[in-house]
Amino acid sequence: MTSAPANPSPPPLLAVKDVSRTFCQGGSLPFGRTRTEVRAVRDVSFELHRGETLALVGESGCGKSTTARMIARLTAPTTGTISLAGASDVPDREYRSRVQMVFQDPFGSLNPAHTVRHHLTRPLLLHRRATRADLPEKVGALMDLVGLGRPLLDRHPHELSGGQRQRVAIARAFAVEPELVVADEPVSMLDVSLRLGVLALMEQLRTERGTAFLYITHDIASARHLGARILVMYAGQVVESGPAGPVVDRPAHPYTDLLIGSVPDPRRAAAPVKRARAGAAATGCPFAARCPLAVDRCRTEEPGATEVADGRWSRCHRAADQYAMSPEVTAV
Ligand SMILES: Nc1ncnc2c1ncn2[C@@H]1O[C@H](COP(=O)(O)OP(=O)(O)OP(=O)(O)O)[C@@H](O)[C@H]1O
Ligand SMILES: [Mg+2]
Repeated sequence: MTSAPANPSPPPLLAVKDVSRTFCQGGSLPFGRTRTEVRAVRDVSFELHRGETLALVGESGCGKSTTARMIARLTAPTTGTISLAGASDVPDREYRSRVQMVFQDPFGSLNPAHTVRHHLTRPLLLHRRATRADLPEKVGALMDLVGLGRPLLDRHPHELSGGQRQRVAIARAFAVEPELVVADEPVSMLDVSLRLGVLALMEQLRTERGTAFLYITHDIASARHLGARILVMYAGQVVESGPAGPVVDRPAHPYTDLLIGSVPDPRRAAAPVKRARAGAAATGCPFAARCPLAVDRCRTEEPGATEVADGRWSRCHRAADQYAMSPEVTAV
C-alpha cells in the first residue's frame, strides 16, 4: 500500500490547460458562401498562483481578450479546461465572486444612468457581502480602498475623469473580495499621466489583499513594471514565458524581441510590420513571415515549446540562437 504524500502542494489558483477557442466569422450566409474559422486562441496552458501578477502581452488580435473572457467565463472554450483552485466545475455564481474582470473601457463598463454608489451597492448585496445596515460603511470603504473620496459616490460616470472611472471599476470588482482579477488593458485608454497610478493601485491591492492579477496589455514595458511573470502571445499561442525581468532583458523569441523594440536593429526595418493574424491555419511557425531569424524549417514545421533556461520557455526553432544573441541588460 502506498501512502499519500505528507504535504501535497495546493493546486494553483488558476490552471489553464490546452485551451482553444475558434470563432466562425461571416454569420449565417446563404448557400455556397463560406464562413471563415478563426482560431483566436490555440492550445494555451499556464498556471497563475495566489497573490501573483501574471502579464499577458501581445499585439492587437493575438487572442488576449478571448483568453481573458474565457477565464472570466464570459466566453466558453472550444476545447480545454480552466480550473480554479483545482476545480473545473465551480458553479457560475461562486466562480464570478472569486474571479472578477476589469475592462479596458471604464465608460463602457459602467452604466451611465447609475451613480457610483449604485455600482458598488449592487455586487455587495448580490453576493451578500453587506447587509442593509453596514452597506454605507462598506461602500465608503471601497472608495477608500481605491483612493477615491467618498463625496464622489453620488456622481454619475460622466461626472468622473477616466482615471476615477477606472478606479470605480476596480472598486466594483473588489466588492466581492475576489481571489483573481482579470484586468484587460485596464490603463490603455487612460491618459499617460494616470496610468502609473492605476498600476500602483493594482500592485497595492495585490500585496495588501493577496489578490492575484492577470494583467493584459500591449505594452511589454508596463508588464515588466508590474508583472512577476510574462506570457507573450502571438497569433493565439503563447510563444514565450518566463519571469518579467529576464524575458524583457534577454528575450528568447524573435517576436518578444520585436515587441521590446529597444535596440535599434536594421533587421527590424526589413521585417514587414503586420497585425498578428489569429487563427490563420499556417504551416510552420505563424511568425515566420515576419521573423528576421526564420530559416526554411520555420516555414514548414510548427515549433513546440522548448525550455531555454530555468523557467524560460520559447516556442521557436531558433530559440537558443535568439537567446544567445540577446544582450543581457542590467536593469535600470
Ligand atoms: N466574438 C467573436 N466573433 C468572431 N471573432 C472574434 C470574436 N472575438 C474575437 N474574435 C477574433 O479573435 C481574434 C482574437 O481577438 P481578441 O479580441 O482576443 O484579440 P486581442 O489580443 O484582445 O486584441 P486587442 O489587443 O485588439 O484587444 C481576432 O481575430 C478577433 O477578430
Ligand atoms: Mg483585447
